[in-house]
Amino acid sequence: KKVRVKVPASTANLGPGFDTLGMALNLYAWIEMGAADHTHIELYGDQMQGIPTDKNNLIYEVAQMVFDKAGVSCPELYIAMYSDIPLTRGLGSSASAIVGGLAAANALIGSPFDNDALFQMATSLEKHPDNVGASLFGGLVVAFWDGERAEHIRLEPSDRLEALVAIPDFQLATEKARGVLPQQLSMKDAVFNVGHSSVLVAALASGRLDMISRAMKDALHQPYRAALIPGMETILRDASDHGALGAALSGAGPTLLALVDSESAGKAGLERFLLETLGQENISAATLWLK
Ligand code: HSE
Repeated sequence: KKVRVKVPASTANLGPGFDTLGMALNLYAWIEMGAADHTHIELYGDQMQGIPTDKNNLIYEVAQMVFDKAGVSCPELYIAMYSDIPLTRGLGSSASAIVGGLAAANALIGSPFDNDALFQMATSLEKHPDNVGASLFGGLVVAFWDGERAEHIRLEPSDRLEALVAIPDFQLATEKARGVLPQQLSMKDAVFNVGHSSVLVAALASGRLDMISRAMKDALHQPYRAALIPGMETILRDASDHGALGAALSGAGPTLLALVDSESAGKAGLERFLLETLGQENISAATLWLK
């Protein structure tokens, strides 16, 4: 018996919703899994350099976690993964591998766990629920994790909402991008973020696209991470002058995300602005239009 799952990439934070907001994007990884005589892991795609193909593979490890919890033994696995999701760029590639591994392993043994149980396992591995929530449930996920349980609500983003992601040609480890964050914040910045994140969620939930650019501002992580990504500050400041509804660092970066009204003119101009701004200092970048 073999199972196959398809898992979306995701963008986390959407600006102010640090470790809280996640949105699935139509860029995918596919994972195939089956019991085998000996463990055999095949990786396909451009992005697979350095990923272990033995029992240290993340998908293998999360699958064993599911089997352990279910009281099932299945030590030898065939795993194949094909992914279009760029690695270590802020598009949730590790979350998609975790969610895909959990979902495939669960399906392989007859689905003893529901999605909520998989969400708890995925969040405790990632330590934040935003990317794994979006990869598992799809759509726009609003979530928190208290260290024991993760809670979420899934919202359906407006049909008119499109995402333009600009992917710089360098990797940025999440640990590094979390390492530059302060241990303490002022009450003023905390209130700023609660307000902006709350209005952003309300705007997205009620289709108030006009409110997105004002709400998509952050004082908690982006100001500290900007130094790691040349061009980021300019893009966050000026993207709405070039036709974006709002812009944010995608997850821990370095990818930048612009939300766009699909009915607006000037999409090509926005794309040019992002590429030119990131192109400074010889950082080549690619853009993708996603939903
Ligand atoms: N919320 C996380 C962060 C997402 O910004 O660090 C990246 O894993």
